[in-house]
Amino acid sequence: MTTYRVAVIPGDGIGAEVLPPALEALDMLGSLGGFDVAYDHLDWSCERYLATGAMMPADGLDRIAGHDAILLGAVGWPGVPDHVSLWGLLIPIRRQFRQYVNLRPIKVMEGLPGPLRDSAGVDFVVVRENVEGEYSEIGGRLNRGFPEEMAVQEAVFTRAGVTRILDYAFELARGRRQHVTSATKSNGIVHTMPFWDELVRERAAEFPDVDWRQEHIDALVAKLVLNPGAFDVIVGSNLFGDILSDLAAAIAGSIGIAPAANLNPEREYPSMFEPVHGSAPDIAGRGIANPLGAMWSASMMLDHLGQPDAGAALLAGIEAVVAGGAVRTPDLGGTATTRELADAVLAATRDTYSSLASPAS
Ligand code: NAI
Ligand code: MG
Repeated sequence: MTTYRVAVIPGDGIGAEVLPPALEALDMLGSLGGFDVAYDHLDWSCERYLATGAMMPADGLDRIAGHDAILLGAVGWPGVPDHVSLWGLLIPIRRQFRQYVNLRPIKVMEGLPGPLRDSAGVDFVVVRENVEGEYSEIGGRLNRGFPEEMAVQEAVFTRAGVTRILDYAFELARGRRQHVTSATKSNGIVHTMPFWDELVRERAAEFPDVDWRQEHIDALVAKLVLNPGAFDVIVGSNLFGDILSDLAAAIAGSIGIAPAANLNPEREYPSMFEPVHGSAPDIAGRGIANPLGAMWSASMMLDHLGQPDAGAALLAGIEAVVAGGAVRTPDLGGTATTRELADAVLAATRDTYSSLASPAS
């Protein structure tokens, strides 16, 4: 029997509340589908930082480099600056493990209308470049405290880095509705963005079966709000992709549902799966966090591990419960607890999996 080794990092706040349902779904699908998932639970978090001065041990990355995948809850807690938790844990994992694709699927699910008027059937994916671009350590501050104080931060775009994220996006579109939208700003940012645009044209020529267009980021965000159904795959740099994916999560109705994958497509290193939301200190400890983002992230992990039937059953289970409308956490307008929503999804997933496995009925 195949055994997948998964590093589990609940992190802070509701991270520890939404991951257990995801693990329960993995265990259930493993027993139905004939695979095993073995977990290593890691306490890497702001709590650990406050106790020891580090978000994770010095050899932390070495310890999980050989795992099949990483499942993360959320990190960040009041009292620890957000750049400490981000640069002390998430960004080292993304960069060291070459997780250069950040993938965020957006679906407006039946039964859960988004805030927009015409959002029925919206189904697109944001492909964000995840290791270079605008989020670089290159730069500095001079003359602190003086009137002439200044800050400079360089954006880094490499031919290799841009090419591989574009190729990923075009390849993904090939298996969907064959359309790519590239986010740019080459009218205002006159070096890196024209370079990005040139590479888009170059790579697009290799995918003649995929339609594409480019949009300046400011116009693109307006179009996403006015006509979200028009998009299939949207590809953007680290900064543009970050902003687009939060906007996209809002279009889908709740940040508590949105999943994300940080992928190393070559599989030289583990990929990391995490809900888009943070640690939600305002509701942590009350047992009412929405577990769907974490469970959908686990579904993406199953796809990546080569268990697409299990992954599809879990997503279908989530969609069935959302469409049913009876069991909803407060963020979705209901009164259900994390436990109740998780149990409903587990039951629906089991049903879906059984009907997938026996299509004759
Ligand atoms: P947040 O996503 O934690 O919360 C924003 C709002 O959405 C809050 O009102 C919260 O209650 C609600 N919410 C979020 N997830 C929910 C869920 N699953 N169910 C129900 N309601 C949910 O973002 P915020 O407040 O900006 O950040 C809080 C902390 O989390 C900060 O320290 C931040 O740095 C960190 N963070 C970490 C992320 C990560 O680990 N990838 C991503 C975003 C924020
Ligand atoms: Mg963000």
